[in-house]
Amino acid sequence: MSRRMIIAGNWKMNKTPSEAVALVNELKPLVKNDEVDVVFCVPAIDIIPAMEAAKGSNISIGAENMYFEESGAYTGEISPNMLVDAGVKYVIIGHSERRGYFAETDETVNKKVLKAFEHDLTPIICCGESLTQREQGVTLDFIRQQIKIAFLNVSAENAAKAVIAYEPIWAIGTGKVATSEQAQEVCHAIRCCIEDIYDKEVAGAIRIQYGGSVSASSAPELFAMEDIDGGLVGGASLKADFGKIVNYK
Ligand code: PGA
Repeated sequence: MSRRMIIAGNWKMNKTPSEAVALVNELKPLVKNDEVDVVFCVPAIDIIPAMEAAKGSNISIGAENMYFEESGAYTGEISPNMLVDAGVKYVIIGHSERRGYFAETDETVNKKVLKAFEHDLTPIICCGESLTQREQGVTLDFIRQQIKIAFLNVSAENAAKAVIAYEPIWAIGTGKVATSEQAQEVCHAIRCCIEDIYDKEVAGAIRIQYGGSVSASSAPELFAMEDIDGGLVGGASLKADFGKIVNYK
């Protein structure tokens, strides 16, 4: 099955609203590519201005997080309705920084994934092992556990529309990119895990990204791997280099 590539930027906690507009305007002409879904996941306060600036382009604006309740007394959180009303289509769920610094767990990730689908938002579900886990040889078991819990009670129809981002923690922001073989091995294991939970059809449809120090020079080889359907890009998504990553071929 041929899957459409999806290359997403994860701006993290960078860019003020006016800087966001400037960056979207700078990157707009550089990220044109009809064969790839291009997403900029931006800080909540940047969503509306970035959306405005991206109008008429091939860029979709995504969120970096959301809460799993509809509304109410959850100071500081963003609800799925707010994202939908702003025109958002994609939301990153369970990034390792959210898990590490903000106490997100596999269980909260699952709640957020279910809530995203209720609102027709496409979750970009993050998973990935630490350096210790890789060195101890438990990477694949750990990732399978993260995936199984993230997809609890998710229908096959919705699972097929999900995006998974495999991001080894040791590769994030370190300049230490996984080799194409390492990335492919885990992305393949993730696809097999999805096949175990659902079936061949869902496994063939779901899109799996690699993330962790993706650059213009590492993208072509990574994105050529059979089970890698694009990337989640942090640092390099804030620069003109992102255009080269989107046009990796
Ligand atoms: P990086 O971040 O590309 O800066 O390593 C990737 C991510 O955390 O999504």
